[in-house]
This record gives sequence, structure tokens and C-alpha cells, in this order.
Amino acid sequence: MKGNALIKNAPQVVTCSGTKAKQGKEMSDLHIITDGAVLIEDGIIKTVGKTNDIISQYSEDVLERFDGTDSSDKAPDIIDATGKCVMPGFVDPHTHFIFGGYRPEEFSWRLRGESYMEIMQRGGGILSTVNETRKASKEELINAGKKRLDAMLSFGVTTVEGKSGYGLDRPTEIRQLEVMQELNEEHPLDIVSTFLGAHAVPPEYKGKADAFIDHMIHEVMPEVVGRGIAEFCDVFCEKNVFSIEQSRTLLSKAKVMGMKLKLHADEIVQMGGAELAAELGAVSADHLLQASDKGIKEMAEAGVVATLLPGTAFSLKEPYARARHMIDQNCAVALATDLNPGSCFTESIPLIFALATLYMDITTEEAITALTLNAAAAIDRANTVGSIDPGKQGDLVILEFPSYHYVPYHIGVSTVEKVIKKGNLVFDKLDPSLNWELLI
Ligand code: NIG
Ligand code: FE
Repeated sequence: MKGNALIKNAPQVVTCSGTKAKQGKEMSDLHIITDGAVLIEDGIIKTVGKTNDIISQYSEDVLERFDGTDSSDKAPDIIDATGKCVMPGFVDPHTHFIFGGYRPEEFSWRLRGESYMEIMQRGGGILSTVNETRKASKEELINAGKKRLDAMLSFGVTTVEGKSGYGLDRPTEIRQLEVMQELNEEHPLDIVSTFLGAHAVPPEYKGKADAFIDHMIHEVMPEVVGRGIAEFCDVFCEKNVFSIEQSRTLLSKAKVMGMKLKLHADEIVQMGGAELAAELGAVSADHLLQASDKGIKEMAEAGVVATLLPGTAFSLKEPYARARHMIDQNCAVALATDLNPGSCFTESIPLIFALATLYMDITTEEAITALTLNAAAAIDRANTVGSIDPGKQGDLVILEFPSYHYVPYHIGVSTVEKVIKKGNLVFDKLDPSLNWELLI
């Protein structure tokens, strides 16, 4: 792919400028350029500014290649964004998008009053997906994963985090991570992989959670680290799943082995997961519906990104995480879909915007930061994606509307018209025949 593009005449370029997570009040700062343009060369943002300035500044050395006469492979896409807001591509920093089978009946059971944890404790929930994923071939997982990535792309997501955790044994955990590695090479979306071997206790270790953690540390993690197939290690730290002590043991070892850390923390029961994330210097702590005041304060001080998953609270009918309080306490908040076959089966970024703004008491500006720069920071990518800054990857979305205010306002509907990934147009609502596979 050629990776050259000039996007010009945008009434707003919402740059979200920055190279690290924005904490507290800073989250409101979107750094908007009016009448803006973005120039991308070889997949990297070369400059962003006023359309007139860019056109005069680069008229000699660069723009002659952008005058539409160059028919070579290097010919750039020129996109007139008149009437359309330009923003960074969205980052979805918490998903479980590689899995076998589905669990639609569980949704109905929950509607009748059974809880997520009750279903899990009687062998359903995560364990039922583990059964299906162990049976699934690599091809089946790749094909299903590709479809979900395509859906994400249509919502404007250009980077996604994906977790293992539906194998709970060495071969399947490794297979999930290999599938993500292959998809990362094949698909335009960038995938950041997380090892979540401690997602549940599998039947063969029932009642022996300590031994299972030991198995993950000694039999699985060395291969994951040795082959470099996961950057992060995560754990489901929850009552009746893994305790604080077990989580600390696993994550401390992962850290020594060179992995970065994440936690599913304080989701259903307050366990002190937020405090543990701060203690261990995790990059993010996720869910946090029940996080304590102390845990929130400690996360803000330690610079742990609070990744909130309102789709999951919505789908499980649990109370939302205290996003407003977290931001007021100077936390860096990110948002994610948590796409998975159980607690939240959705790739929908518009749904997350709707829930975050209407039910978590955060502003449109904060929500945008939470799904761009702070989401990038939650997967340690704030240096390369999450904002429109020179030197970063040319990943952006062009909306159908002239300002970012339309994003949550068009409730539950995607406002993304075009997606540019590393300088290439990979999705266009106006041109359904556009197929990224043909561009490679
Ligand atoms: O983030 N809470 C634990 N893990 C996932 C759900 C996984 C599943 O139900 O399959 C989550 O919500
Ligand atoms: Fe999750």
C-alpha cells in the first residue's frame, strides 16, 4: 500500500494532540484546528495545520505530487473534507475478539434474573467459550476474527487490543495469540496482544486455582514471552475467580519476564484491584465498577489508565464505573468496548459514546480523548497513535458531519464516513465496493 494522502478543507481537524495519557482536566483539551488539512507520507503524518498554510508551505517540494497528475504507485489520495470533521482513528483498548462459538442463550438467562457470576459458577460463561475455542481450528478463529475486525474498522477503529483467555491451556492460549499475530499482518487494523491465561479456572484445575496460576507461570508464560506473541499480561481478579494474592503472584512474575501489565479489576466485587494496579505499576486497570476511592486516588498518582467498559455494565445491568469521580480525581480515563461473547457482545463504538456521555456523566470532549489518545496510552501506544500529530501513524477518520459534537449526538449510529489507515483509504461508507483486501 502506498500510504500517501492529503486531506484538506476540513472545517475541524480534532487533533487530540499529545504523546501521553491526559489526566483529569486535560481530557477536555482536544486541540482543534479549523479549516484544517493533514498530509500523510509513507503512512506517517508529515504535517497538520490550516489548509492554506499547508498548501503554501508545501507547494514546491511535496504538493506537486499531490496535484492529481501523478499516476504512479506513489500517487497520493487527495480527499476533500469540505463539511467533514477529521479525527484520529479510534483505539479500542480492551477486547476479547478471538473466540469460538457464541452464548446467546446466556443473554436470555440474564434477562430472567440469573447473574453473570452464577452462570459462570455452574460451568457456563467463560468456560463455555473455552470449550468452543479449544475445539476451533486456527482457520475458523482467523475467519471469525477477520469479520469482527472489519466491523470495528467500519466504526472507525484503527488499533485494537485483543486478549487470549479462552484456552486456559497451553496449546489454545498460544493458538489464540498466533491468530492475532497473523491477523495483525493480514488486516489493516493494528492489533496489540494480551496474554490472559488467568481468565478463569478450567475444569481440570477446579478447586486448585493456585496450581493453575503456577502452571500458567511456569508452563505457558515462558513460551508466550520467548516467542514475543503478547505484549501485556492480564488477569481476571474477582471474587470466586482469582484473588488479589494470586493476581499479584502472576503479574509480578509477568513483569519480571518483561511483560506490561493490565488487570480486570473491581468489576463485580470490590477486591482492591485498583490498588493492586497502582502498586504493580500496571499500564491500565479495566472495568473498575466497584473501585474504591483509595484505589482511584492511587491509580491517578501512579499514572495507571482507568479503562472503562460501559457496554459491559449496560449489558450486565450493573452500575456504571464512576468516570466523573475518576476524572475529578485526576485519573486518565480510557473507554473500550470489551467485545466478547458473554458479558458484552458488541464492536459498537457509537454505543460506547452514548453510554459514556449519557450515563457516566462525562463530556463529549472527555469521551473523545478516552477513545483516542487515552485509549492509545492504555495499550502503551500514545507515542505512535491516538492523535493527529506529525510523526505519528496516519490513522484517521473523516466524519459525515462538520463537528465532533455529532459523534455522541447521532445516538447509536456511526458518524464515520471514511477511515484512513497508515495513509490509505481502507473504508468508505460512500463506496461500498472499496475492499481493503484489494489494496494490499
Ligand atoms: O471483560 N470479566 C471477565 N472477562 C470478560 C468477559 C468474558 C466472557 O464473558 O466471555 C469481560 O467482561
Ligand atoms: Fe474483558
